[in-house]
Amino acid sequence: MKCRTCGTKAAVNMRQHKLALCKQHFLEWLPEQTARFIKKYRMFGQHEKVLVAVSGGKDSLSLWDILHRLGYQADGLYLGLGIDEGIGYSDQSRRLTEQFARQRGLTLHVVDIRSTYGYDIPTLSALTHRGHNRPCAVCGVVKRHEMNRIARDLGYDVLATGHNLDDEVSVLLGNTFSWQVELMARQAPVLPAHDGLARKVKPLCRFYEKEMTAYALLRGIEYIYEECPFSAGSTTIYYKEMLNRLENDRPGAKLAFYLKFLEARESGLFQPPAEFAQPMYNCPSCGQLTQYEGRCSFCRMMEKAQSHS
Ligand code: AMP
Ligand code: FES
Ligand code: ZN
Ligand code: ZN
Repeated sequence: MKCRTCGTKAAVNMRQHKLALCKQHFLEWLPEQTARFIKKYRMFGQHEKVLVAVSGGKDSLSLWDILHRLGYQADGLYLGLGIDEGIGYSDQSRRLTEQFARQRGLTLHVVDIRSTYGYDIPTLSALTHRGHNRPCAVCGVVKRHEMNRIARDLGYDVLATGHNLDDEVSVLLGNTFSWQVELMARQAPVLPAHDGLARKVKPLCRFYEKEMTAYALLRGIEYIYEECPFSAGSTTIYYKEMLNRLENDRPGAKLAFYLKFLEARESGLFQPPAEFAQPMYNCPSCGQLTQYEGRCSFCRMMEKAQSHS
């Protein structure tokens, strides 16, 4: 297989795009495509302040690397979740994220959930969902709340996450199986800013997971290989495996499913009922927007944890 651009031996073969590229041209192609998507979906401009949520994984570290290479003003945010299971998941991912920032002289904000709120994610989960051993739901609420809080408090225009195509398509499939139209209406490469909430963007949403792995490896980015130990056996992983089988038989199927969804969404197929269109209330404790009147799910969860500890 030869590189389409220069004819030397290809390092990456992307059957889904009928495109093979050598290392150098792949490492140029991926940021060029990212820049194209940033403009196409009007994610942010050159003068806006971007906060990249970095987990220490290949996607978010690569995203930070790409934005930096493209000349954007992008700082990082790492959330210490206190997940000591596995190989010491949180400590390792923090170390790799800090190392990445240090080597490139980038600004990284670190927020440790345990020292900020008194509980790590497994403890918070045990205190609020007794009997369950799957802290992912609790973790999702905390991550979303903290990303929004830091972006707002530090005055960032945009919050960027490293979700790739495989992430987006597995969520989409889950939402489709259960016809969660409100969630589908809110699944997009860009969610506009709203009353103190920074705009949210996913610049990697059109890249296959294996493209991101190739980018991180070829760029020599040191990232955490392990998935979060609590993700084992999750529906998301099950859907990803299913989708990989489909993709194997029909290269391009995942991307086509996602792009057709975006088109359908754009044409108004998934309009949520008016009352769900935007969060409408401010949480009386933390001020963040909520869907329903009263305290937000994060504040309610913290209160429950305090009453059980
Ligand atoms: P996940 O929810 O683990 O699939 O991660 C999706 C995206 O959320 C990642 O690509 C990151 O941008 C962000 N993210 C996940 N975990 C963290 C973390 N501990 N700190 C900061 N950002 C994170
Ligand atoms: Fe939050 Fe796994 S990263 S539970
Ligand atoms: Zn080449
Ligand atoms: Zn709140």
